[in-house]
Amino acid sequence: MKTIISNSPGETFQFGVDYGGRLQPGDVVALSGELGTGKTVLAQGICFGIGYRGEVTSPSFVRIHTYPHTAPIYHADLYLLRTEAEVIDLGLDELYGSEAIVIVEWAQRFPGLLPEGCHWIELEWYDDKESSRRITISD
Ligand SMILES: Nc1ncnc2c1ncn2[C@@H]1O[C@H](COP(=O)(O)OP(=O)(O)O)[C@@H](O)[C@H]1O
Ligand SMILES: [Mg+2]
Repeated sequence: MKTIISNSPGETFQFGVDYGGRLQPGDVVALSGELGTGKTVLAQGICFGIGYRGEVTSPSFVRIHTYPHTAPIYHADLYLLRTEAEVIDLGLDELYGSEAIVIVEWAQRFPGLLPEGCHWIELEWYDDKESSRRITISD
């Protein structure tokens, strides 16, 4: 476990850049945290760190974005999904264990459907400050 404090969106993005730079094809990153804690900002940094230079936006409404890259990146969001069946319908299972890098926002809603060995990153409000977040990584 490792914890850092981010004091701006830019710091969260940069944390993601460093983190993404260490990811390997096949890695799954499970982002947990309430609405507005910075999961999408972090995902943007992670994608940049992986080397993807296109736009990265919240997949809340479409559930999943695909970004073409050497190892394709799948960016999913479980926020609006209600049942395990809906999550299973997304087809994430077929991506796990492939060459793809998968980033899942709101992963805490369905922890049982995330693969063993995935990398958990939790974002929380910190110190009652509008721009501070505590980021905890599981490994
Ligand atoms: N330290 C911080 N890290 C990340 N986002 C921050 C931070 N401080 C303020 N913000 C703001 O919080 C919001 C986070 O939004 P977003 O990444 O979409 O959250 P989520 O995907 O968790 O719902 C953005 O408007 C961002 O500018
Ligand atoms: Mg989001």
